[in-house]
Amino acid sequence: MLKVLLIAGARPNFMKVAPIYAEMKRRSAAFEPVIVHTGQHYDAAMSDAFFNDLGMPKPDVYLGVGSGSHAVQTARIMTEFEPVLLEQRPDWVLVVGDVNSTIACALVAVKLGVKVVHVEAGLRSRDRAMPEEINRILTDSISDLLLTTSQDADQNLKAEGIPAEKIRFVGNVMIDSLREHLKVAAASDIREKLDVAEGEYAVCTLHRPSNVDDKPVFSGIINALAKISGRLPIIFPVHPRTRSKIDEFDLAEQISASNIRLIDPLGYIDFMRLYSGARLVLTDSGGLQEETTVLGIPCLTLRENTERPVTIELGTNILVGTDPVKIERAACEALEKDRIAGTANIPPFWDGNAARRICDELISS
Ligand code: UD1
Repeated sequence: MLKVLLIAGARPNFMKVAPIYAEMKRRSAAFEPVIVHTGQHYDAAMSDAFFNDLGMPKPDVYLGVGSGSHAVQTARIMTEFEPVLLEQRPDWVLVVGDVNSTIACALVAVKLGVKVVHVEAGLRSRDRAMPEEINRILTDSISDLLLTTSQDADQNLKAEGIPAEKIRFVGNVMIDSLREHLKVAAASDIREKLDVAEGEYAVCTLHRPSNVDDKPVFSGIINALAKISGRLPIIFPVHPRTRSKIDEFDLAEQISASNIRLIDPLGYIDFMRLYSGARLVLTDSGGLQEETTVLGIPCLTLRENTERPVTIELGTNILVGTDPVKIERAACEALEKDRIAGTANIPPFWDGNAARRICDELISS
C-alpha cells in the first residue's frame, strides 16, 4: 500500500489532482491518497467551486496559507506543511504544475527524505522572469520521479542533466479531467445566462503579472480587445489579480464602453461550456492553451513565449505576444478561418488515461 500526499494549492492544480485521486481510490488496495490543500487559492470561486465541479471530497488537510509575496507565501506553505509531513509519513509527495505550492511542498519533502513525484515536469518557457519557470526548474531538479505531458519536456529534462531513468512520459492528466467532464459541461446553462450563441463570441482570460501588473502592457491589451470586440463580444471572466489592476489602472470605463464583458471567475464546468463554444480564445493561461488544442478552438496566446510548444506545433495555439497591433491582426486572421474540428492534431497521450499511467509508474518505481 502506497500512501501518497496529493498537493493542491491553486486553481490550475485542482483539475490535475482530481483524476489522480479518483484513480487511486479505484485502486484502494494499492493506494492511500491524502489531499493536502495549501490554501494558496482560497476564494470560493477559485477553489471550492472546483472541488465541487470535479467531484473531489473536502481536503484531508487544509493549510490555509493565503496570499502574500512570493517569499512570504512559499515560506508559509513550507512551515505549515512540514509538521503535516512529519505526522503523515507518506511514501510519496505528489506535486503538480508550477505554482508556489509545488516547489514549497517538494522542498519540504526532499529535505525530510520523502520521495517526490512531479506531474507535468519538464515544461520550459526559457523565461526566468516568470515565477512559474523558477518553480519548474527547482521542482524538477529535486524530484525523484518526473512525469511529463509531452516529449519535448523529456528532452528539456535530459538537457539539464536529469537521468533518463527518472523521467517517464505519461501524457496530460488535465486532459483526463476535460474528457471526463465534457458531457456534464454540455448541460451547463452559462451561455444562455450570458446570452451568447455557440461560435459567436470570444473568451478572454488574463492573469500573468507580466501582462496585468504593468499599466502600459495591460492597457495596450485592453485597447486591442476593445477593437476586436467590435466584431464579436468578448466574455472575460476576471481573475482577482486582474480585477484589482483594472481598478488601479482606471480601465473599467474603457472596458464598459466596448463589447468586452467582464464577469466573475467561473467554475470548472461552466468555464468548459463557455470556452468549448467560443469562436476564439485569447489568453495568457497555460492550461487553456492545452484545452483549446484538444477541442480544436483557435487560441491566441498573449505572451512572448510558451512552455507548451506542442500546442503550437500540433494544436490550435498561436503565440501572439502583447503588441496591440499584432493581437488585433492575429484575431482578424483567426476569424477569417474556419474553426478546426476533429481529433487529428491531439498530442500523444492526451487521451484521458494519464492518471492510470501515473499510478502505474508509482507502483513500479
Ligand atoms: C497563481 C500562480 C500561477 C497560476 C495562477 C492561476 C504562482 C507563483 N502563481 O497566480 O502560476 O497560473 O495562480 O490562478 O504560484 N487572490 C484572491 N483570491 C484567491 C487567490 C488570490 O483574491 O483565492 C488575489 C490576492 O490578492 C493575491 C492575487 O490574487 O495577491 C494573486 O494571487 P496569487 O496566488 O499570488 O497569484 P496568481 O496570480 O493567482
